Amino acid sequence: MCGIIGYTGSQSALPILLDGLSRMEYRGYDSAGVAVLCDGKIEVEKAHGRLQNLIEKTGDGHALPGFAGIGHTRWATHGAPNDINSHPHVSGDGRFAIVHNGIIENFAELKAELEARGHTFVSETDTEVVAHLIESYYKGDFKAAVMKAVSRLEGAYALGIVCADHPGTVFGVSKAAPLIVGLGIGENFFASDVTALVSYTKNVIYLNDGEFAEVRSDDVVVYNEIGRPVEKTVSRVAWSIEAAEKGGYEHFMLKEIMEQPAAVKEAIAPRIKGGEIVLDDFELSAEELKKIRKIVITACGSAYHAGCCGRYAIESLTRIPVEVKLASEFRYEDPIIDEHTLMIIVSQSGETADTKAALEEGRRRGASVLAIVNVVGSTIARLADHVLYEWAGPEIAVATTKGFTTQLVLLYLFALYAAKKLKKLDDFEYARLLGEICSLPKRIQNAIDLNGQVIPRLAEKYHNKGSIFFIGRNTDYAVALEGALKMKEISYIHAESYAAGELKHGTIALIDDGTPVVAVCCNESLLEKTANNILEVKARGAEVLALSFRENREIIAQADDVLFVPKTETVFSPAVAVIPLQLLAYYVARANGCDIDKPKNLAKSVTVE
Ligand code: G6P
Repeated sequence: MCGIIGYTGSQSALPILLDGLSRMEYRGYDSAGVAVLCDGKIEVEKAHGRLQNLIEKTGDGHALPGFAGIGHTRWATHGAPNDINSHPHVSGDGRFAIVHNGIIENFAELKAELEARGHTFVSETDTEVVAHLIESYYKGDFKAAVMKAVSRLEGAYALGIVCADHPGTVFGVSKAAPLIVGLGIGENFFASDVTALVSYTKNVIYLNDGEFAEVRSDDVVVYNEIGRPVEKTVSRVAWSIEAAEKGGYEHFMLKEIMEQPAAVKEAIAPRIKGGEIVLDDFELSAEELKKIRKIVITACGSAYHAGCCGRYAIESLTRIPVEVKLASEFRYEDPIIDEHTLMIIVSQSGETADTKAALEEGRRRGASVLAIVNVVGSTIARLADHVLYEWAGPEIAVATTKGFTTQLVLLYLFALYAAKKLKKLDDFEYARLLGEICSLPKRIQNAIDLNGQVIPRLAEKYHNKGSIFFIGRNTDYAVALEGALKMKEISYIHAESYAAGELKHGTIALIDDGTPVVAVCCNESLLEKTANNILEVKARGAEVLALSFRENREIIAQADDVLFVPKTETVFSPAVAVIPLQLLAYYVARANGCDIDKPKNLAKSVTVE
């Protein structure tokens, strides 16, 4: 949701804070702010809108001298995105400044208590309450005051805190929200995301739920919830800063689309050893798999769509029933889950609040949990019984692309792995399907090459449409869901997806002269059926953009425009078919002059319910 950073060391803090915030701006971009310790005082600067406003306000990072500080980039929850509600927030006596990611659920109650004790508040935020609470407990011991205040807080949050009396110390707190400590030489850091740290250090400590870090330039001490120091493992970040930079592309989204062949290969290749699928450091035995009566995939946004696509592969290969549930709905459904259920939790960030809550609900009811996650060490990865990492590298654009396709291939690998263990296919078929999965990176590259030139021209035709419909059946419908989401989230064009056969039960009333309909036609066994649906919409005046393979003459003949993809085994085809739809959304958004990497009102990691 928001991004927080802390620094203490021998360098000027402000440029480092601003640089770190620029790498986390994808987490929220309603406002930004910093607090720097200068000559025993806390200096605060904030600006609503993009980080660039703050950079300009602070003279490119020269305005506030000082060697320790905290910073914040905000996705507004409590209070409008204006300067007053922007972080950092300062205690009434000006001694403490605080930045915060997440939500303090009992802030109203604490605020009333503090107001009764004479505290006055200037903002509408939950965060300001924490600054005042720390002030109220402070008797000269910074750590004790922080711990006491934190023990009163309810919710999921990460905090960064500075105190004017302790100019070399920055305090970080992690409670069910990510905070990573970076270890440098003569300087140390913390941030919500390793991307903010990696140009300074690759040695990091992932804080666990409830841990505090007292960070000084030459020392970091991590404490548990009751204030005892804990031994932490130092991990090495596996990728370099170039991975989190645009590398010559106009937008991160385009770069990440183009990275998909490599990312998908990276997700598949290390998991195939001697012609067999090896699932990282865990194994599910045939006996364990036989006990599974159903699989529930739960996730949000695009990760939910990955589940919708993956369901077809898992069901058709293993014959285990699969339900795909929106995490935000699942938790309030009184779900029918028990120890015979395997939950597959899908989340690029590993931090999505609803997805995490669904995981916890499933666990409470006895299910075992396999997580498919991209961000190493994230909360969901830590809570699950088993993790399959996507190894997609950092994904910066808010609209996911390589995060989505790597989720798909892991679901495919899982499906084939389980099918083999359950003896649902013979060795020949297993080897053939494994070959199909291994050829996905090449096919994805092909899908990029076939459409890279065509789509920018097509975007000119579609960019000023008020509405676009996406249709498909079965696996194609699952792809249509993601195609429509990509279109609406970055181009702001109303886009809806429908199961092609369902159109005639209502939605066809919206099809008129010139209404664009994108028809996904990659599921070989259903091509004739979708062809009929194309005729139905064309009869009402629709302009049809079909997505199919060259051999599909009938559909090519009916459509007004065609995007081609290489023919792919049907259950794995979403990983290839989605590529032109990502590119279409990208170029339509570009033609509309949208802020592609940071679409309005969105955030990449949604850590509130
Ligand atoms: C946000 C993002 C979506 C993403 C969803 C789930 O809404 O804007 O692109 O699909 O969260 O995120 P996750 O990190 O759990 O995959």
